[in-house]
Amino acid sequence: GDNRPLAGRTAIVTSGPTHEPIDPVRYIANRSSGKQGHAIAAALAKLGADVTLVSGPVTIPDPAGVKVMHVERADEMLEAVTSRLPADIAVMVAAVADWRVAASADQKIKKQPGEAPAPLVLAENPDILKTVGHHADRPKLVIGFAAETQDVEKNGRAKLERKGADLIVANDVSPETGIMGGDRNSVKIIAPDGIETWPDLGKDEVAQRLAALIAAKLG
Ligand code: C5P
Repeated sequence: GDNRPLAGRTAIVTSGPTHEPIDPVRYIANRSSGKQGHAIAAALAKLGADVTLVSGPVTIPDPAGVKVMHVERADEMLEAVTSRLPADIAVMVAAVADWRVAASADQKIKKQPGEAPAPLVLAENPDILKTVGHHADRPKLVIGFAAETQDVEKNGRAKLERKGADLIVANDVSPETGIMGGDRNSVKIIAPDGIETWPDLGKDEVAQRLAALIAAKLG
């Protein structure tokens, strides 16, 4: 068979966390390692796609055969993603921080002896998946992830609708699963017409299966 079924296709993948600055030395972030997103970018490239990986700050290396744009904040990630549209495929795997500090400080915030700490005022970040899912240049295939700790299926279905995605890859990231930062993943593929539960697999295997599913869907 054809071992490069995605030749001639363009793909955008987001991966990793975002860092939202509090001041020049502090930030808000989450525990995403970037392993799953990076593996998906590599798997799509292996099937012949022209892949741009938009990565937040991670400690893992850039995958081979992929164009990588490094960003820190959600607003930078959105800008990088939309700069790569139009594209055939978008897989938004990044664990984008939902909130940023409304007015991050230009200088390091100093402790004031004897005074209560200043509260952090947060503002909502742009939703990158939702923006892409409703974009005038919407890719043919828009795929999101749903990291949940409860009601994985129900939340995944709601997300499909709200974000304008074709597929949601839902996983349970409860601490006891070891998925966050780990090498394995156990996912459900949620489509408008049904749900498929994949066995517990390595993140590379999840990536390869997803890339194959994408190739099948694009025909
Ligand atoms: O709403 P929630 O964050 O749970 O949705 C997860 C999906 O949405 C993931 O695919 C994630 O990459 C994407 N997302 C995004 N921008 C945000 C929040 C989530 O692209 N600001």
